[in-house]
Amino acid sequence: MTQRTISGFSKLSKVGKLKWIVENYFKDPEAVKHELASYWLSNEEQQKILDGFSENTISNYPLPLGVAPNFLINGVTYAVPMVTEESSVVAAAAAGSKFWLDRGGIHTRVIDTLKTGQIHFLWYGDGELLDSQKDELATHLINCCKEITAKMDERGGGIQTISLIPFTDREPGYYQLLFEVDTRDSMGANFINSILECCAKELSVWFEAHLPDNVPVPEVIMSILSNYTPNCRVLAWVECPVVELGNFDGGLGPEEFARRFYTAVRISHIDIYRATTHNKGIFNGIDSVALATANDFRAIEACGHTWAARSGRYKGLSKCTIEEGTFRFELELPMAVGTVGGLTTLHPLAKRSLEMLGNPDAPTLMQIIVATGLMQNFSAMRSLVTTGIQKGHMRMHFHNMLLRLEASEEESIAAEDHFKGKTVSFAELRLFIEEYRVGSVNS
Ligand code: MEV
Repeated sequence: MTQRTISGFSKLSKVGKLKWIVENYFKDPEAVKHELASYWLSNEEQQKILDGFSENTISNYPLPLGVAPNFLINGVTYAVPMVTEESSVVAAAAAGSKFWLDRGGIHTRVIDTLKTGQIHFLWYGDGELLDSQKDELATHLINCCKEITAKMDERGGGIQTISLIPFTDREPGYYQLLFEVDTRDSMGANFINSILECCAKELSVWFEAHLPDNVPVPEVIMSILSNYTPNCRVLAWVECPVVELGNFDGGLGPEEFARRFYTAVRISHIDIYRATTHNKGIFNGIDSVALATANDFRAIEACGHTWAARSGRYKGLSKCTIEEGTFRFELELPMAVGTVGGLTTLHPLAKRSLEMLGNPDAPTLMQIIVATGLMQNFSAMRSLVTTGIQKGHMRMHFHNMLLRLEASEEESIAAEDHFKGKTVSFAELRLFIEEYRVGSVNS
């Protein structure tokens, strides 16, 4: 090992960066260099596109792209692309959608599609005076960034509202302008930030021109979109008569299943430890589709968790009711996504994922993603209140262990047969495979 810090790393070529990293941070530089370079795409054009997404790239980090078929949403069938590193996630989504396929499918409704941005500023003038002028200020700001919004306005989007919110009771002089913006099918982050920065510059101009002499000028602290988008929201639900739920593993009848399922969902509303895991399961599905379609899963999650705490207490995001013999399970969630522009059109596999979904507009993708979250949650809860989660997980785990042991098809079948219905450790499985190999060599 030699030196471990560097200046000008970003200016090195990709090969130069890789060389420096392996020489300074790995025990076997040559082998690691070859391994990392082996993940470069042979298609140089596509590799260039990938490298353009980030900085200081040295390799690619592959994740599996899976598909959960049979998603019947509002009468349309989708095969949902999912990118995840966690086993059982795609299987669970697929199991959920298959279950509801014969029970009317999934229903969804877009509640609204507005994204948000904020200008945070300090101003120490007469709050009542400012409040009396707020509509005029909003109109002025909307007009001053017409150049930026013209095309979006033509498409039926653009700035919808600008609200002045005083927070002076919590921080002297602190005001906020909250923008609600319709960005149509684009995620719209750059669009919103450009609007905000344009309006922020205009703020002092307007104050000086429209408020009486001697009032102080505002000091803009920052202008940035907000990832909390409560008015960009979807409701997804499934429902059927309780009796049609059928019978479940573990010998549960439909009434007993519905009661246990309902109670499990209620627990997520009562206890934050359970709520966190409950919601994590929902985002297993949501993040996978967001990733597959090149949407910002961190933004979606951050927003979802804030929404989960909107009552002042963090709660499970889904809801279950059993009324007049009908079982209903629903998920209402903000879902700010885009289907045009940015990475959605640049990433070759995101383009294919969107094509798999029929090149949806943003509201349709919002509904597909929330429906996937609902199915993910349904399957997790179904396992938890019946056989437990380990049965399905262990199957996948077992398969992964066989992969690690490079077991042949014959060895895998023999191992599955031998360990049927049992929980097995890696050491036990390795011993079995080793002995099986010796046995098959000797026989
Ligand atoms: C595992 O990734 C997700 C679950 O723990 C979710 C849940 O408990 O609801 C299975």
